[in-house]
Amino acid sequence: MTLAGRHILLVIAGGIAAYKCLDLIRRLRERGAQVRCVLTKAGSHFVTPMALAALSEQPVFEDLFALTDDFGMSHIRASRESDLLVVAPATANLIAKMAHGLADDLASTLLLASDKPILLAPAMNVVMWNHPATQANLAILRNRGVFQVGPGTGEMACGEEGAGRLAEVPLILDAIATALGGGGPLTGRRALVTSGPTFEPIDPVRYIGNRSSGKQGHAIAAALSRLGASVTLVSGPAALPDPAGVQVVKVETAVEMLAACQTALPADVAVCAAAVADWRVATPAAQKTKKSAGGAPPVFEMTLNPDILATLAEAGPGRPKLVIGFAAETQDLIDHARAKLVRKGCDLIVANDVSAATGTFGGDANQVHLVGADGVETWPSLSKTEVAGRLADRIAALLGERD
Ligand code: CTP
Repeated sequence: MTLAGRHILLVIAGGIAAYKCLDLIRRLRERGAQVRCVLTKAGSHFVTPMALAALSEQPVFEDLFALTDDFGMSHIRASRESDLLVVAPATANLIAKMAHGLADDLASTLLLASDKPILLAPAMNVVMWNHPATQANLAILRNRGVFQVGPGTGEMACGEEGAGRLAEVPLILDAIATALGGGGPLTGRRALVTSGPTFEPIDPVRYIGNRSSGKQGHAIAAALSRLGASVTLVSGPAALPDPAGVQVVKVETAVEMLAACQTALPADVAVCAAAVADWRVATPAAQKTKKSAGGAPPVFEMTLNPDILATLAEAGPGRPKLVIGFAAETQDLIDHARAKLVRKGCDLIVANDVSAATGTFGGDANQVHLVGADGVETWPSLSKTEVAGRLADRIAALLGERD
């Protein structure tokens, strides 16, 4: 990926992850980008202007009113000369200021005075990240078209575990390429991805669901987008942020998921990673089902849900060139996956063992086998992000072969 001739304005806010932006600047420079840094007052507690200036080979801007900075009052010019504004790390405070249009220092003023694309790489403590205020502020920014990469999950500098780590530098670089207009091997391709569980109502308050977190499907949508595809992610209920640059359609039931997928067609590739409920209650009760004293437990009549993967894979002019399914199994993995490949008419099955001992459901790692008509390829245990990246590369190669 070359970024030759691209101008990046990098805003560094105050968080321990600020040190990682030093590596980010190096990697951007290696790819030919020109990087100008804006350091907030809080950011200067974590990295020095000297280090930023040395790596970017540009003066660093810190003060809205400094007459010595060649920016002077011309913050409009600074953003006008950039192709992309990247905020890394984006703190809860700076995100809040952006969401509400505050401009009380150089960084927030530049961001408000900009009509250029903006990419946020949030990093903060897990409780701050999960706080409804932060999530609401991010939703405002995403609705305005601001790109987002990460945060990742894992152990944090404060000793807590969870979401809030700055995205790894390679992921930020991919997101920068996407925000700048792609150029990846899937540019011009349309992708449809299903993710998460479905919830099938019993009555207005109860549902039948499953343990799918949506992590794998969301990661695949993000990976396809990073390669330049225009991605629609149809997601069942999942507690995950919307991936950057991806159009997300939120549904609850299998019937809604199928309808949303059909609306999203045509697509070059469809990846069905959702854990769709096989059955639904035939006639959900209109009112909450009461347990009348001493009464017998209710018996629900179930009906089969549509098979979204099989429907998308049906032959016809609207069939995506590549239809990929998952097989979540607890025994006889490969045999079941081979049978599903044939039964559902898809081109590839990504088979994974979801027995409780593997920790796949809800976890961050996945060990998969690619089952195709021409054989089985076994991948090592990888993070779900890595599985998604490899699968996106494979999709790009397979689509190239099918042209
Ligand atoms: N799938 C789907 N629609 C359904 C059921 C499954 O699109 N109604 C897709 C899943 O997204 C996945 C693949 O089919 O890509 C296999 O899902 P899985 O739950 O493993 O298989 P089932 O079809 O439920 O088969 P079985 O119950 O025999 O395991």
